[in-house]
Amino acid sequence: MNPTTTDAWHALGALESEPASVEPAPRSLVLGELCLDLSRQRLNPEAWSTLVRFAREMGLEAAIAAQLRGDHINNTEDRPALHSALRARADERPAAVAEAIDDTLEQMIGFAEDVRANRRRGYTGRAFKTVVHIGIGGSHLGPELVYDALRDPTDRLSVRFIANLDGHAATEALRDLDPETTLFIVASKSFGTLETRLNAEFARSWFIERTPAQQVKSAVAAHFIAVSSNLEAVERFGIDPANTFAMWDWVGGRYSVWSAVGIPLLLAFGEAAFRDFLAGARLVDRHLAEEPLEQNAPVLMALAGLFNYNFRGAESLAVLSYDRRLRLLPDFLQQLEMESNGKSVDRDGNPVACQTMPVLWGGEETNGQHAFHQLLHQGNRAFTADFVGVVRPAHDRREQHLWQLANLLGQAEAMEQGDDPADPARRVAGARPTTTILLRELSPSALGTLLALYEQKVFCQGVFWNINSFDQWGVELGKKLAERVFPALQGDERLDERSGNSQRLIDHIHDLGSA
Ligand code: F6P
Repeated sequence: MNPTTTDAWHALGALESEPASVEPAPRSLVLGELCLDLSRQRLNPEAWSTLVRFAREMGLEAAIAAQLRGDHINNTEDRPALHSALRARADERPAAVAEAIDDTLEQMIGFAEDVRANRRRGYTGRAFKTVVHIGIGGSHLGPELVYDALRDPTDRLSVRFIANLDGHAATEALRDLDPETTLFIVASKSFGTLETRLNAEFARSWFIERTPAQQVKSAVAAHFIAVSSNLEAVERFGIDPANTFAMWDWVGGRYSVWSAVGIPLLLAFGEAAFRDFLAGARLVDRHLAEEPLEQNAPVLMALAGLFNYNFRGAESLAVLSYDRRLRLLPDFLQQLEMESNGKSVDRDGNPVACQTMPVLWGGEETNGQHAFHQLLHQGNRAFTADFVGVVRPAHDRREQHLWQLANLLGQAEAMEQGDDPADPARRVAGARPTTTILLRELSPSALGTLLALYEQKVFCQGVFWNINSFDQWGVELGKKLAERVFPALQGDERLDERSGNSQRLIDHIHDLGSA
């Protein structure tokens, strides 16, 4: 259905053009260890109820049921999007996927516990100390964010991540490692992604060069594991099928941190923490399914976003992490939100009649206050922002922490209220719609709730725009063109006229020196 043809859409347009007669209403919801506060969204009760009416007109309730039941909502690939099943209780999982999930979870836990208890060791009998996780996009961003958020200096195993194609990344990650105590995870749903293939090949050669020739085969088998749905390619790479953890086409890459892609988290933090992480996310799925739309956190968050993007012209969503441990949250959300909802055709292949997801960006606070907040306070482009903070820190410097929270609240208030001194250069417009999310502490379960809240918000916005949030065809073209360019860079051939601009740059590259 075209969202712009609904009655509620027209009513929302009228609401924005005529200043609301009622004051914006406070609105906060508590979800487990998380508080979602939408009071600074500048929406009065009439606006909220019109937004909820819009959600109903777009069939959101039926769409939620279809997602959780496992209908093929990813219509261009004819697949379900069943990441919620990964964090459901065993008795709640759709029958078609229950056994696969149970078996893989058990295999992951068994493997991780063996490593953590030193029952599984490197080929020379030494215990593993470092895990190197190789993967990109959805096979990287979630695990690194969660690892970075929850890691502790006392953890016995540390995890490093290699994602970037740039050879500096892998060289730097492996520089000071001891191969005898390093475990490599190659995570790639397709096992065909260029970056992961090249980085995994580099890691394997690095490892082999440092291993006695007669032990190479058994050493590689002991030190390399894979997470993938492409078992043949994994085997061709030389990883033992017994050390391969399944992924499935019904879990999208950017929704896969709950699957075997999360195995570095199990290795670093253990079974109990990983189960808490899943339980925190499950809470959101149950809440989404059971709460009326009027009190449904991901739904209201999605509706506020829609109003900002489609009726107030917000050109971006800034995610402001007021906790250093969540500094990777904007990176994770960039893939989640922009790869899911950066679309311009609807589910039937017709042009979408309204704007969809704008750019999401963000940063680590309070650093951002001394960098880009000037533009947020006095720039003349519309935006919306999410402030994310943690009430109880993991350190004991109370004064410093209270200042951190004071800055979160102060910045949000400045964006809300603005200031109107006589000097125009000092004026702050205010009236910026923002959301505040507070976690009680940065526990595995709270983090699970936070990430699933965003996932389900993204899903709801996809329903509102009538787009498929679970494919990503747009990323393919550039990959194909890089394959055409590669031989020209090697100097083996020249590109045809169509690629004249690329060929000219290749000529410059050759003039500048051989790569
Ligand atoms: O290029 C985009 C993408 O397909 C993402 O959607 C995915 O998360 C990432 O690449 C990595 O894919 P894979 O896990 O198959 O290596």
